[in-house]
Amino acid sequence: MGAIHYYEKERVFKLDTPHTSYLIGIVDEEKFLGHIYYGAKITDYDVRALMRTGEAPFVPSQNNRDRSSFLDAFPMEYPGHGVGDYRESAISVADKNGNTAVQPLYREHKIYAGKPGLPGLPATFGSEEECETLEIVLADEVLDLTVTLYYTAFYDVDVITRSVRVTNHAKEPVYLTKVFSTALDLDAEDYRMLTLHGSWARERQIEYRQIGYGKQSVGSCRGESSHQEHPFVALVSANAGQEQGRVYGFHFVYSGNFLAQVEKNQFDSLRVVLGIHPQDFRWELKQDETFTAPEVVMTYSDAGLGRMTRTLHDLYRKHLIRSPYKDRERPVLINNWEATYFDFNEEKIWSIAKSAAELGVDMLVLDDGWFGKRDGDCSGLGDWDVNETKLRGGLGKLVDQVRSLGMQFGLWFEPEMISEDSDLYRSHPDWAIRIPDRAPMRSRYQLLLDMTRQEVQDYLYEKISGVLRSAAISYVKWDMNRSISDWYSAALPAAQQGELPHRYVLGLYALLERLTAEFPDVLFEGCSGGGGRFDAGMLYYCPQIWCSDDTDAYERTRIQYGTSMIYPISAVGSHVSVVPNHQTGRITPMETRGITAMAGSFGFELDLQKLSEEDKKTVAAQIKQFKEYGPLIHGGKYYRLSDPFTENSAFWSFVAQDDSEVLVQGVVFRTAPNMRRKALRLAGLCPESRYQDTASGEIYTGAALMHGGLLLPQTWGDYCPVMFHLKKIFA
Ligand code: DGJ
Repeated sequence: MGAIHYYEKERVFKLDTPHTSYLIGIVDEEKFLGHIYYGAKITDYDVRALMRTGEAPFVPSQNNRDRSSFLDAFPMEYPGHGVGDYRESAISVADKNGNTAVQPLYREHKIYAGKPGLPGLPATFGSEEECETLEIVLADEVLDLTVTLYYTAFYDVDVITRSVRVTNHAKEPVYLTKVFSTALDLDAEDYRMLTLHGSWARERQIEYRQIGYGKQSVGSCRGESSHQEHPFVALVSANAGQEQGRVYGFHFVYSGNFLAQVEKNQFDSLRVVLGIHPQDFRWELKQDETFTAPEVVMTYSDAGLGRMTRTLHDLYRKHLIRSPYKDRERPVLINNWEATYFDFNEEKIWSIAKSAAELGVDMLVLDDGWFGKRDGDCSGLGDWDVNETKLRGGLGKLVDQVRSLGMQFGLWFEPEMISEDSDLYRSHPDWAIRIPDRAPMRSRYQLLLDMTRQEVQDYLYEKISGVLRSAAISYVKWDMNRSISDWYSAALPAAQQGELPHRYVLGLYALLERLTAEFPDVLFEGCSGGGGRFDAGMLYYCPQIWCSDDTDAYERTRIQYGTSMIYPISAVGSHVSVVPNHQTGRITPMETRGITAMAGSFGFELDLQKLSEEDKKTVAAQIKQFKEYGPLIHGGKYYRLSDPFTENSAFWSFVAQDDSEVLVQGVVFRTAPNMRRKALRLAGLCPESRYQDTASGEIYTGAALMHGGLLLPQTWGDYCPVMFHLKKIFA
């Protein structure tokens, strides 16, 4: 079949996915690599005219008087630095003379079936039957440096991935000061920039902005992908909505510092770049060494944000998540954090487990506080031995007890951290990241372990694997409760300190790789003070990630709306908690908390014994519902039906892959008196098919549901839950 072709005469590469095409050309005798086209699928490969090389000044080898006319306007596929293209470069260096210039020009290429892995990094994967890869080698002869661009086109999803490897062939080391993973030049047209921003307990809110001249960006220099900004940017045409309009989505498969930037230039074209943030980055590359930049996922949709979302959900479910849990039903869990915080002993945990088992919960997760000297957040991190004052009889006994209830057992760790008040710190103060002679910046009283050091990784591996081997533990919550600062590693020479932020992430990935390989059946859930490291890099190891420390149902509709733009619903850790809510003080009905938590990896975070009998019945019913609809929620096609940022409701639906059923869920925020009932337009149905409401027996055509809408119930009170289940009638 083949998704990638090289047209020799035209010197054009064409990459195809089911609905999109991407074209690259080699230009002029000097062999500049130019971007020709990315958009809806085209059949005619001969579109080199789009590069406008015919315009007089744009023939560099014939125009030495004004080379910058070419260099500063040409759509470069991977722009070099410092030799006449004044827009953002994709790569820059400090060479032996202190020069920063790089100019990568085409040398050779190859095309092959399948997709190579990225050494030490998470990345999407696909077999030889599922995708094809193009490698284009660019070279800077002056530096004796090669830059290899990797493109993979998938046959089943509209995704092209990109990554970059830089190799130094010269005798002298060269310092990389910037290596972005992607660059894309396109005409400005009418795009707005869609990004996700937030804070602790307010992650992934939506922001649209006009694209002005100059540079606009989101990024993180916190050492993690962060609560604040997200390694994602989309260009969205002016008329675009959920199911119509043009959208380009760019997403980084990485968990550390990043920059996603859009630049509008003097000729009204845009340059999008995405990669590791150049701030605090400097990488020494000795002779024959290669630096691998992480992967970027690119998708184009001419059917709105909805198609972008469903493409990314499909990609991540099929080609990124590796754990066997990607196809397994996720256990409904109860986590003790909001029920007890640090104040628990084995009896309290046992009684929480018992009442949860009675209502049908599958797993108990013991959160922070079970180890070392840990009665609050100022001590103990690093000492991963059970605290027998709190858990008398040890961990094994508690695990066995919980399992005797027919439940599984899960455990919290925060592996990357160290408390100064810990045995670990007392024996290895140099394992902490901190700047010599400078008082360390503490956050939640804690410091970070230097994950670049092999002995630190080995210590954590021994400790965590030892605990996992000591008892039947089926789940690990991998937390990280502070951003990184004070970048200094006692193990790196001065010339390599600029490597620490990326090496930290590589160390984290190496440890996760070892543990997930040894314990493939353990369900790993990522976490970082809620959703501070909710990214595709972590998703590769952890099929679910705690979405936010905000468990308020209303706030969650917004956080989950933003998160759903990119991430499959099965990835979104989501729990029912008590009211008044611990983060906002808001009171919402139990049914509403259930509906919002069900649109994720479902669980509870409260002491179920303390609920009223009526609420207990509701909880049991919710668990039953989740067991029934879970496969549809986690495996179906996701549609956003209303926008909690701009409307009085949040509605979403899951349509079965074979279109046989639809689950509609949502919350109406405020009830107004004396109002007519509203209709909700559904999406993604077959217009001619008939669908039956499984509760009322009412039958509708898909067309009526999509154009006329489904009549919503009269609401009473605020934050009213709504749920419909419809089945397609095949007869
Ligand atoms: C932050 C997490 O997001 C919470 O769920 C909880 O695990 C705490 N850390 C424990 O310290």
